[in-house]
Amino acid sequence: MTHLVLVGMMGVGKSTVGRLVAAELDRPLFDSDEMIEQRTGRTVREIWSTDGEAAFRTLETDTLLEALAEPEESVIAAAGGVVLSERNREALASADAHVVWLLADVDVLLDRVRNGMHRPLLDDDPEGTLRRMHVERAALYQEVADAVVSVDHRSPNDVAKAVLRCCA
Ligand code: S3P
Repeated sequence: MTHLVLVGMMGVGKSTVGRLVAAELDRPLFDSDEMIEQRTGRTVREIWSTDGEAAFRTLETDTLLEALAEPEESVIAAAGGVVLSERNREALASADAHVVWLLADVDVLLDRVRNGMHRPLLDDDPEGTLRRMHVERAALYQEVADAVVSVDHRSPNDVAKAVLRCCA
């Protein structure tokens, strides 16, 4: 029983690609941000501004651990920040999971994050923030990844096919 987990920066397409891969494999999709919003009845932005980042990160960990503990093989679109916590990285390493890092050039990400309200971290200086986060997180994504798939100049369908190929 092996879960397929997509990790990577905001805007890289984890949810979109996750949906395509889950449909192709006929598996349930667990989308971290969606799970958090369903569970709490609040948006990511509301949680962030009312309870703060630390509270959000706790929910992020809870949803990751819960999805990894599901008995049914699934596809998990993990939230971008999931690799920040050592506990989450250990959980990914010890779970029966194939972890794919979706990697994009920051210019590609910048184009994609213009829509979407669930990214309070990008309210100010999205370009500077994304560039800094990319540098800070690259080694962490690398640490948890079993495979890396570049999304640059590829459609979501092509990325989904590449993900499926590397997990076959
Ligand atoms: C975050 C990524 C967002 C969301 C929150 C924080 C991050 O999710 O969880 O804004 O720290 O990278 P996506 O990766 O789905 O955009």
